[in-house]
Amino acid sequence: MTAHAAPPQPRLANRRDAFWMPFTPMRGFQSEPMLFESAQGMHYVTPEGRRILDGMAGLWCVNAGHGQPRIVEAIREAAGRLDFVSSFKMSHPAAEAYAQRLCEFAPEGIDHVFFVNSGSEAVDTALKIARAYHHARGQAGRTKLIGRHKSYHGVGFGGLSVAGIGRHKAAFGPLLADVAHLPLPYDRASMAFSRGQPEGGASASEALETLLQIHDPSTVAAVIVEPVTGSGGVYPPPKGYLERLRAICDKHGILLIFDEVITGFGRLGTPFAAQAYGVKPDLMSCAKGMTNGAVPMGGVLVASHVYEAFMAGPPEAVELFHGYTYSAHPLACAAGLATLDIFAEQDLLGRLRGVLPLWQDRAHRLKGAPHVADIRTAGLLCAIDLSPRPGAEGARGGACARLCYEADLLIRNAGDTLVLSPPLVIAPDEIETIFATIEAALSRID
Ligand SMILES: Cc1ncc(COP(=O)(O)O)c(C=O)c1O
Repeated sequence: MTAHAAPPQPRLANRRDAFWMPFTPMRGFQSEPMLFESAQGMHYVTPEGRRILDGMAGLWCVNAGHGQPRIVEAIREAAGRLDFVSSFKMSHPAAEAYAQRLCEFAPEGIDHVFFVNSGSEAVDTALKIARAYHHARGQAGRTKLIGRHKSYHGVGFGGLSVAGIGRHKAAFGPLLADVAHLPLPYDRASMAFSRGQPEGGASASEALETLLQIHDPSTVAAVIVEPVTGSGGVYPPPKGYLERLRAICDKHGILLIFDEVITGFGRLGTPFAAQAYGVKPDLMSCAKGMTNGAVPMGGVLVASHVYEAFMAGPPEAVELFHGYTYSAHPLACAAGLATLDIFAEQDLLGRLRGVLPLWQDRAHRLKGAPHVADIRTAGLLCAIDLSPRPGAEGARGGACARLCYEADLLIRNAGDTLVLSPPLVIAPDEIETIFATIEAALSRID
């Protein structure tokens, strides 16, 4: 190098694609990057200082609002005290404390939790526990798994296999064999614009009996459903549907798994959907709101009768050959404990129940707005179906979400369905802002 040569540039200094982003059109993102620099309460802040109202609680996870000081402090303290300890044959006090508190938050009889690091891992773990449960009870022939149309269960091979969104699966086959799918219990003709749970659950759930006439029930390990279909477009269960799934599973000795990755941690005004709908599953996968999104974590909540089935062998033997290096990570447990403290001390669920009638009423006032074909609400979730632009499916949903963003509101669109899931600490005027902004955007798109 001569004395006057320019200093070497980092090889990738002018490129934005070193970070290959999940579920993102990489080339589109580079021409129109959406960046956030900080977040507080109900808002993100862009590098230019714009405050964006977060209509998605991050990605259905920051339920107590951004930057909760108690969580920030708990993580900081935990990192300084115990940065890491394996959970393979050893543990730490925060893991034990969090497991107990979490199980107390869950429905009675669900007294155990297996910690993982994401919703995808939680689902795959739940499916493995279901198969291993039957294996432990001498029914190793029970291997089939039943999922449902439009469901999202993460991106592991197990979750992808039972999921019901075709475009997510197309490139990755072959997936698990021995999987079948229920139809989505939704019929627009009879259910559009229902407030909360539509009628018709008992007949919709008979689809499971029909499926079990095709697949010998004694070969089925588990049925997995999101109590409210989330990413697929917020479909609440019709009245009586989950109850009937429970009864059919019981009749045939099949485990019922609720994937509560979205519905858990208060989204429906109760700790989990299981309490909201009064139906107790055998296994519940959770993640997202566990740590308020602050540290990656997931878990499978396990009913006592399932756990006990594993405890019959010699006491020195490993009962479940499964787990992750970061299961029950100290920082995640600290954030999880602080999150449960916030739920209790700030009465998040009580406050949320106070605003839910306004949420539902304001959402349904969009009936009659341009392009609106259906509106569904469940707890602090909402989906607004737009009729597709002829020949350009998804274009209207995308255009509406972009206009909302220009007006400082972050929402998601799944094709032509607008999806909302703000932090549970939302105030009445912020509810008004969300729906008024969407209404204004709808009046501007063709
Ligand atoms: C119901 C459900 N299950 C599983 C997952 C996967 O979670 P993760 O992205 O943390 O792997 C999600 C994510 O949105 C989800 O909504």
